Amino acid sequence: MCLVFFGSKSMFKTTSPFVRGLCSTPFGTININEKFSLFEKQWTPHIIGELNGQYVKLCKLKDEFVWHKHDNEDELFLVFKGTLYMDFKDAESIEIKEGEMFIVPKGVEHRPRTNGEVVLNMLFEPKNTKHTGNKKYSFSAENQKWI
Ligand code: NI
Repeated sequence: MCLVFFGSKSMFKTTSPFVRGLCSTPFGTININEKFSLFEKQWTPHIIGELNGQYVKLCKLKDEFVWHKHDNEDELFLVFKGTLYMDFKDAESIEIKEGEMFIVPKGVEHRPRTNGEVVLNMLFEPKNTKHTGNKKYSFSAENQKWI
């Protein structure tokens, strides 16, 4: 399926068949700071791009998330602002500073956490990756929104 965002401000308007309809992401630059300003809800990924079967997502994180794992997907955390901590059941916690990234291997139970600050994080995930991995909660975001 291919969505084309005609009329979007950031959309480069073209009639070229080589551009139109080939990609779900609007054809234009995406300002990440601007996208982060569009939502406040924490621990809820918002989609800003799509490529090669993957979504690029933004998420605001604060305090502790739940323990979970993803049986089939490695999970990338790229910290855009703040410091994120990743807890593991069988290993020392990892500190991921602004401008750093960390990949949680598939099958590894993990719990993202912050020290009270709101951390801005970017994720790259296969489209079918579940928000809370193998566990389902009332806050699990099933249909994540494009912004
Ligand atoms: Ni995860």
